[in-house]
Amino acid sequence: MGSKKEGPKISVELGPLKLKNPVMAASGTFGYGEEYSGIISLRNLGALITKGLSLKPRKGNPPPRLAETPAGMLNAIGLENVGIKAFIGEKMPFLRKAGCPVLVNIFGATDEEYAEIARRLSEVEGVAGLEVNISCPNLKAGGCLFAAEPKAVFQVVSRVRQASPCFLMVKLSPNVGDIVPVALAAEEAGADALSLINTLTGMAIDIRTRTPILGNITGGLSGPAIKPIGLRMVWQAAQAVRIPVVGVGGIGCAEDALEYMIAGASAVQVGSAHFIDPRAGLKIVDGIHDYLKTQGIPDLSSLVGSLKAGQDNRKTDR
Ligand SMILES: Cc1cc2nc3c(=O)[nH]c(=O)nc-3n(C[C@H](O)[C@H](O)[C@H](O)COP(=O)(O)O)c2cc1C
Repeated sequence: MGSKKEGPKISVELGPLKLKNPVMAASGTFGYGEEYSGIISLRNLGALITKGLSLKPRKGNPPPRLAETPAGMLNAIGLENVGIKAFIGEKMPFLRKAGCPVLVNIFGATDEEYAEIARRLSEVEGVAGLEVNISCPNLKAGGCLFAAEPKAVFQVVSRVRQASPCFLMVKLSPNVGDIVPVALAAEEAGADALSLINTLTGMAIDIRTRTPILGNITGGLSGPAIKPIGLRMVWQAAQAVRIPVVGVGGIGCAEDALEYMIAGASAVQVGSAHFIDPRAGLKIVDGIHDYLKTQGIPDLSSLVGSLKAGQDNRKTDR
């Protein structure tokens, strides 16, 4: 599974980063890789993105942290993680032997924290690149999300770019009005690629007790419910920028991944689907391969951004 050698070309290049196939495991849904290593062969993934990492360890939010929703789930984990020191000492020795490129998802509360974690990870052997999660409150801007304000995005990504020569993928939030100015700001600041979307803020209520179901009251919605939004945003961002775009949000099968690629994604990430089936990502690799073969398409890259949409279709939502 996920290890086809003959037939259509499914390797992809995200700027300087080369992947043997376009399917990555999304941050926060794949632990530090080791958790899944007894079930699947990590080397058959395009890449693995680790749980969001901060300078200091974080305990995360109070429970309950998960709630099921129709066609998806809410999570309010609160970016619990081991912190950079333990990550380098305890997680990297395993990850170095994973057999696929390892991208480290990073976050901070200030531009300086982002830059510092990026700088320290750049010196770590086995880190193929960084995914910069900007869906976090900016402490110096009254707690508004970095991702919500193009100027803040430009600043934080510029700082990370200066601090690190690593492959940089900036992960955008769907919790914004217009994704295009944010995508352009990240590109202008030196991102090598963009990934989108992160989760959408939502909530759920227990009507018997009239209390929020999540300990944090609100949480991030993921899963099949968000795929149409992710597709729309990937399509909009991919038309605006020249760097590669990576699609994420509600991908559970090869058809979902192919939709994202036709919309303009050069690669995809699989998140919540891994909770249902740890083999989801590898099944998607095989499904993409089979689709290309059946359709007589020799190279996956020719599918990227191949959506046939007339100008009229783009101007209206209905
Ligand atoms: C439990 C959980 C934890 C997550 N943690 C992170 C994280 O640490 N950093 C990050 O950038 N995204 C995080 N995400 C977002 C996912 O990487 C992904 O963008 C989102 O879930 C949408 O994809 P999906 O619908 O395939 O799950 C998390 C998602 C879930 C469900």
